Amino acid sequence: MTMTERELRILLNDMSLEEKVGQMVQLPGQNYGSFAAVTGKAEKKEDGQPILDQAGSTLGIYGAEKLKKIQKAYMEKQPHHIPLMFMLDVIHGYETAFQCPLGMGASFDPELVKKCAEIAAKEAAAGGIHVTFSPMADLARDARWGRVMESTGEDPWLNGKMAAAMVEGFQGENRNQTGKVSSCVKHFAAYGAATAGLDYTNVELSEHTLREYYLKAYQEGIHAGCDMVMTSFNTWNGVPSTGNPWLMKEVLRKEMGFDGIVISDWGAVGEMVNHGFCEDRKEAAERALKAGVDIDMCSDCYADYLVDLVREGVIDEKEIDEAVYRILLLKNELGLFENPYKDADEQREKELFLCEGHRRTAREMVQKSAVLLKNEEDGKAGKLLPLNPAEKIAFIGPYIEGEDMRSSWVVTGSAKNSVSICQAAKEAFREDQICFAKGCTLLDNDTLLNGSEYHSDSWEEDNDRLLCEAIQTAKQADVVVLCLGEQNHQSGEATSRTHLTLPKIQRTLLSEISKVNPRIVTVIFSGRPLELSEVETHSKAMLEVWMPGTEGGHGIMDLLTGVCSPSGKLTMSFPYTVGQEPMSYSQFTSGRPCPKGSKAPFLTRYLDCSTAPLYPFGYGLSYTDFSISEPTLDRTEMQAGETIVASVTVANGGKRTGCEVVQLYIQDVAASCVRPVKELKGFRRVELAPGEAQRVTFSISEEMLRFHRGDGSFGSEPGKFRLWIGNSSEDGEAREFFLY
Ligand code: BGC
Repeated sequence: MTMTERELRILLNDMSLEEKVGQMVQLPGQNYGSFAAVTGKAEKKEDGQPILDQAGSTLGIYGAEKLKKIQKAYMEKQPHHIPLMFMLDVIHGYETAFQCPLGMGASFDPELVKKCAEIAAKEAAAGGIHVTFSPMADLARDARWGRVMESTGEDPWLNGKMAAAMVEGFQGENRNQTGKVSSCVKHFAAYGAATAGLDYTNVELSEHTLREYYLKAYQEGIHAGCDMVMTSFNTWNGVPSTGNPWLMKEVLRKEMGFDGIVISDWGAVGEMVNHGFCEDRKEAAERALKAGVDIDMCSDCYADYLVDLVREGVIDEKEIDEAVYRILLLKNELGLFENPYKDADEQREKELFLCEGHRRTAREMVQKSAVLLKNEEDGKAGKLLPLNPAEKIAFIGPYIEGEDMRSSWVVTGSAKNSVSICQAAKEAFREDQICFAKGCTLLDNDTLLNGSEYHSDSWEEDNDRLLCEAIQTAKQADVVVLCLGEQNHQSGEATSRTHLTLPKIQRTLLSEISKVNPRIVTVIFSGRPLELSEVETHSKAMLEVWMPGTEGGHGIMDLLTGVCSPSGKLTMSFPYTVGQEPMSYSQFTSGRPCPKGSKAPFLTRYLDCSTAPLYPFGYGLSYTDFSISEPTLDRTEMQAGETIVASVTVANGGKRTGCEVVQLYIQDVAASCVRPVKELKGFRRVELAPGEAQRVTFSISEEMLRFHRGDGSFGSEPGKFRLWIGNSSEDGEAREFFLY
């Protein structure tokens, strides 16, 4: 039995001002546990400081045994024995690490994404966690920004589906059930539009663009019922989100209907002083509170100043009460007043962590999220992938062994639990069929990681020797599988880059190998779109596998060997060159569009590069041959309340079972605001056996055609529309229809 509203109000009324403010303070886990994940300044308090017994929540620590002890000791000292809330970044798995979010997006499979979130919630809850700081619903269109890895990509509508799936997976029907945690949608708002992809900087967007593209996915997470929303570090319209009452109160609470807790990002309240938006930390506390931030994550501004601000009459205590009530309400909904340990249980940890079922789902996600970028004809033998077991295969590259397959955002568990390429290859092939060589170190010696240089001792010698060995290994083999990519700390928070190429050391390895054995399959590990033109030139086949997680080796081997056929589709455009960033298939239309192949002057184009990406949004090949017929429409005119049914036939004309992601795009040809060249409005994953065909239909309604208009209203406008149904954002014949 949870507490009634009346009981909660009685509790609130009985709390001192200091105690109430304590609930609004989140301290870094260092203050409670030996190890804690940190993403900012984390000062340790002196034992005996009252705030230690009063802070309402902490983050970055985990583990049933540890958290139970901390909870017990804390509650004994807490004046009203209110439990502490434990929060953590469970971004793509807890002990069982799943594919990173950008990869999950590429699965175009929200049900599977939900299942991964359910498993992550089960494991995290067993480890004592109550709230996860996930999903990140930020729209990501600039691959220079390292955090694109934590997003599901460049499309607002798809991101919305994925954000909702994650919220539902984490929270379920009722968070106080076993195996559920609260979900925090972040970072509100428009963090993904950081200028030039530079983390923590300013965002320059019109309100129209903000609403049309950036707010949509947060809204879907809120509709799905997320308990918390986190503010973003950036400024928008000159105001830091954490101090923006219009954003938090008007947009988030009134327009979007969010009634849960707003938490700042790490240190973001205090950072308003650095932004030059507040004179000092006291003003920052005032502005954040007045903007509607309920919990101050790790800046201590609330802890240091809120009590004084109330006593001085600057802040009305009622505002404090409102925030604290929301916090108590969530603790109540999590069932913490009855059972402050919730699911924390060492036995459950043992049973759940990395159990067979969880690993199976992680493997399935790798299979469905990897994107086959290229698979060329290779003489008489057909295509290079799937691998031919009659041939000798060399697995070469710094990613074949030992390296962590998880991203920098899996803070729990051990890298040792990840299945490497070597291990998976040894399980899949006979010993005499395969050989291995590391080839080079993962990074050049002078790469900056977390602000300091990456050093492999004896670098020169290592890499010369490794390259020689790799060349010999490649010579002995019929095919080379070259595993290259980003180090896992090259993407994620604070990992902005101005170059998107693979490290030079890896490019040298690729070109040297290609001289002795051109039959190269390149497997690319990355948390962002990379510049792959050079890799493409030297590779006969290419598979993008992202940061695949614990079951990476197995899932990748399933794809390389043809146990299953790739079906992932890119959710971010892959550029030819970094100079094209930011990029997206759904840009607003230009007054001088450049038709494909046109040589005419004075058009929207670069002089030295295509305006199109190397690989577009929605793109991904398969081992089988799918065809999608031209779309037919049951009618070409409709009005509100009616629908048009558009359909295609998808056929598998190849020799293998496979899955195609059929995508529907729509363009509003003319409207009172400039509209995107096309927008994703639907998709279906269709699995077909060889020779099989299926009719796929999409229902188009007036609701799907609504947009944010210049006068602030949201609605559709009559006129002409185009639609495409195809296997990527660049595929399909256009059809027209009219809305009256
Ligand atoms: C990140 C958030 C994260 C928080 C807590 C911040 O630096 O921006 O995404 O949830 O740290 O770890």
